[in-house]
Amino acid sequence: MRGNEAPRALADLPLILIINGPNLNLLGEREPEIYGSQTLAGLQADCEQAAQGLGLAVDFRQSNHEGELIGWIQESRGRTAGVIVNAAGLTHTSVALRDALSMLDGQPVLEVHLSNIYRRERFRHRSMISGVADGVICGVGGHGYELALAAIA
Ligand code: DQA
Repeated sequence: MRGNEAPRALADLPLILIINGPNLNLLGEREPEIYGSQTLAGLQADCEQAAQGLGLAVDFRQSNHEGELIGWIQESRGRTAGVIVNAAGLTHTSVALRDALSMLDGQPVLEVHLSNIYRRERFRHRSMISGVADGVICGVGGHGYELALAAIA
């Protein structure tokens, strides 16, 4: 930024939708040996900070309801510059969530998981999302969200 230039307003920055699925509201309390001790609010703060450094804005959300997640993805069509999705347990089951992500047009989709789903139970090895995602990052905790932001940037 040049010295006499005003900082860009957040509203001018490319917006990245970050959606988190069921039970991620309990991060920090939930199985910390798997998901770590960071809370969802802490993760959100880290994402906002990382986004700022990359010249992006983030819309960070969580829901325990599949339909709400799908609604947010539908609304983001043509409105956001990319979507980062941790669909949590719905990753392994939701054709509807996959279909919603398939309808995005030209917006990169990055699938993120805190844990390494391939080192866990067999049912977690299958992702409905990966086949429609541009990239998949898992096993590096909350850092994966920052890597996904950097990849989109
Ligand atoms: C998760 C992995 C999923 O298998 C699990 O159901 C989650 C979280 C992760 O971030 O590691 O809820 O998506």
